[in-house]
Order: sequence, then structure tokens, then C-alpha cells
Amino acid sequence: MKLMLINGPNLNLLGKRDKSIYGEMTLAQIESRVLEKAKDYPADVIFFQSNHEGSIIDFIQEQTDKCNGIIINPGALTHYGLSIRDALVDANLPTIEVHLSNIYARDEWRHKSIIAPICNGQISGLGWNGYILALEYLVDLLRDVN
Ligand code: DQA
Repeated sequence: MKLMLINGPNLNLLGKRDKSIYGEMTLAQIESRVLEKAKDYPADVIFFQSNHEGSIIDFIQEQTDKCNGIIINPGALTHYGLSIRDALVDANLPTIEVHLSNIYARDEWRHKSIIAPICNGQISGLGWNGYILALEYLVDLLRDVN
């Protein structure tokens, strides 16, 4: 089983960005926790972060046939990234949207996700553990995939 874990704009700055909202961990530290967990299953996880919507779409398109599921934190693209949404629909893979912060407890413009309706589900506000929980869910869902 192989999963994509994608992070969108500004998430390369985790560990420096407002820590009271996004926590202390860097993206590299989060990715290594996910890898550790994935080893137990076992599942392969490939990581990608970009500040550019088109690069994220290229990555999804390139990896779709090689992967079985997607974990994505689209960053602010969550709220307006319609071409990411289309790319995810085209990929037609089980997909979980993750947010470190609780987007429903923040600015009103963050309350609406245009990605969540086409995902299996959304995890919001559980910090970096959200990525682990998404991994657990997809591993269980895809139990019979090699
Ligand atoms: C975020 C929430 C978004 O609203 C914000 O633009 C981000 C991070 C989160 O993980 O909490 O960049 O996706």
C-alpha cells in the first residue's frame, strides 16, 4: 500500500509559524513521526509540500496510478483551491483532509472547505496527530491492498 501525504502553502514553515496555532513541530519532524508509524503497518508514504497549487496538482497526477490513498493538508487552498479539488476528484482515491488547527474555531473565511465534500472525511484541530489518525484510517480502509 502506498499513500501520498501532501502539504500545501506555508506548511514548510511549521515550527516557525504561529506555534500557539500550529504547534512546535517542523514538517520534517511530523513526516518522520508518520514514517515511523507507517513502518509498523507496513505502508509506504511519499511526502510532498509546495507553496504552488499547480505543483501540487502535477504531483497528484504523477502519483495517482502509483498510490492507493491521499492525505492532504491543502493549507489556505482548502478554502479556494478549486483546481486541487478537481485534481483530487480525477485521482479518485480515498482521501482525508487534515488541518492542524480547528478551522471552525478560527476566522469565518476558514470555516468553509471546498475540498472536504469530495473527501472521505476531514480531521481538524488535532495538531500533528491528525496526520497519524488519517494514516490509521486509510491503512484500515485499504487493508486488502498490497
Ligand atoms: C491549515 C488551516 C488553513 O486555514 C491555513 O490557511 C493553513 C493551515 C491547518 O493545518 O490548520 O495554512 O490548513
